[in-house]
Order: sequence, then structure tokens, then C-alpha cells
Amino acid sequence: MQFDKAKLAAYYKDAPDDISLDALDLSRIPAHVSLIMDGNGRWAKAQGLERTKGHRAGVTSLREAVTTAVRLGLDVLSVYAFSTENWRRSQKEVNFLMQLFAETLIKELPLFHQENVRLRFFGNLEALPKKTYMTFQRGLTETKDNTGMIFALAVNYGARAELTRAAALLAKQAQEGSIDPEAITPEDIEKNLYTAGLPDPDLLIRTSGEKRLSNYLLWQIAYSELYITPVLWPDFTRWDFLRALVAYQKRERRFGGAQS
Ligand code: FPP
Repeated sequence: MQFDKAKLAAYYKDAPDDISLDALDLSRIPAHVSLIMDGNGRWAKAQGLERTKGHRAGVTSLREAVTTAVRLGLDVLSVYAFSTENWRRSQKEVNFLMQLFAETLIKELPLFHQENVRLRFFGNLEALPKKTYMTFQRGLTETKDNTGMIFALAVNYGARAELTRAAALLAKQAQEGSIDPEAITPEDIEKNLYTAGLPDPDLLIRTSGEKRLSNYLLWQIAYSELYITPVLWPDFTRWDFLRALVAYQKRERRFGGAQS
């Protein structure tokens, strides 16, 4: 995707000592970056605050991540906001997050329009509280004609549930005769995932130092580069994003092929 170099340089002025925009090769920006935003609870605890305050601070980081991704010219930014396992958290925290998602989405609609961002969701939205569900539908409708970066939120998402759903959809298509079960290809599976039509993530960033995939995009990250930073999500800034991209560009991606 195109980006405005002058705008990007202005966005990345006042660099810290260890990193600057000059370290990035602007001709090799990845198409899709995905984020596992982890560490809100620990951030809050470290400050003697309630966990919910960590999630609120996480929204500020997310806003910056969206702006950064647009400035860098990514095609897709996706984020893991709520997993199928997150329902096991306290009712209070789950309610808070659902409310926060709805509230944030409405509040940020002007930002999405200003930045020409199109929303998309991964996950079973129908199981969400009605207000959150309706808000997400509104976000989809209101941004559907935007032509810039796709910002995808994984909410009530789990990779195993996604793959199970794809299997069920394909079984149904086979039953109806629209697909030959003997000839199912990886592309047929891809078409039945929530991420259908999107490029796979080139880079998956996980904050807070945990070395796990947590049931996230397991099919799609087959060849993604993983970058794990100890920075807690509420402390993650445009500079941390830049550090991740520079580290990514230093790696050689072989997609299972031999070294050249
Ligand atoms: C992980 O930290 C974070 C979450 C499960 C929630 C993510 C939500 C946000 C960052 C707010 C984003 C808002 C929108 C609109 C998507 P954790 O609670 O697991 O932290 P811990 O591991 O330190 O307990």
C-alpha cells in the first residue's frame, strides 16, 4: 500500500537512542502484521490499579498501533482482542471488556474515516452481547467503503473453533454437491476461514514476553515471523512497533525452502 513519506517521517521524529526510522527499509514493509496484545492485567497490577484500568490503557496503545500501521502503509493490521477462552475471566472483567469494545469502536469511527480504515472481525460475533454485536455491525457498515488499511479485530475468536467451523462449512458444501470432498484443497479451507481473502500475517508480534500462540490464527501463521517483546501492551508505542519491523526485516524468510 502507498504511504506518505513526509507524514511518516514527521510521525517518527524525536527518536530514542536505539532506533530511528532510518533503520527501516521502506521498500520492504510487510503487508500484514498481527498483534497479540498481552499484559494489560500485569501493567495495572504493577501500578496498583484494577485490571480494567490496564485494558483502558491498552486502548490508547491500540489507537497508536492503528495510526502507526496506517503511516507505515500496511495493508492489514489484525489484533487479538478477546479469545474463546477469555469468557472464563470474571463476569465483571468480561462485561467491562464488552462495554469497552463497543464504546471504543464508536469513539474511534472518526479516526477510521480520517485514516480511510476498513474494519473487519474474526470470530463468532453472534455470541456477543447484543450491544457489542450491534456496534460491530455499525462499524462494518460505516467503514465498508473505506479503501485504505484493513483493521481486523479478533473477538470471541479461537483458531480451533475457526477450523472446526471451516470443516463444517466444507462438509455442508460437499453434502449440497457444490464441492467434491475428494478434491478439497488448502485454498478451499482458506476460503472458509474468517480471514478469507486476506494475506497471511508476515509478522506476529506478542507483547509481555509470553512465548505462546494461545489458539490464535494457527492456520494463517504457518510461515509468519514471530516477534516477542517483554513490553507490556499498555506500554507498547510506535517505537516498539518500529523495533519489531526492523527485527523482521533482518530475518530471511524461506517458507520451508532451502537457503539460497
Ligand atoms: C490481554 O491482557 C488483553 C486482553 C485480553 C484484552 C485486550 C483488549 C484491549 C487491549 C483493549 C482493546 C480495545 C478494543 C476496542 C479492541 P491480559 O488481561 O491478559 O493481561 P495479563 O496477561 O497481564 O493478565
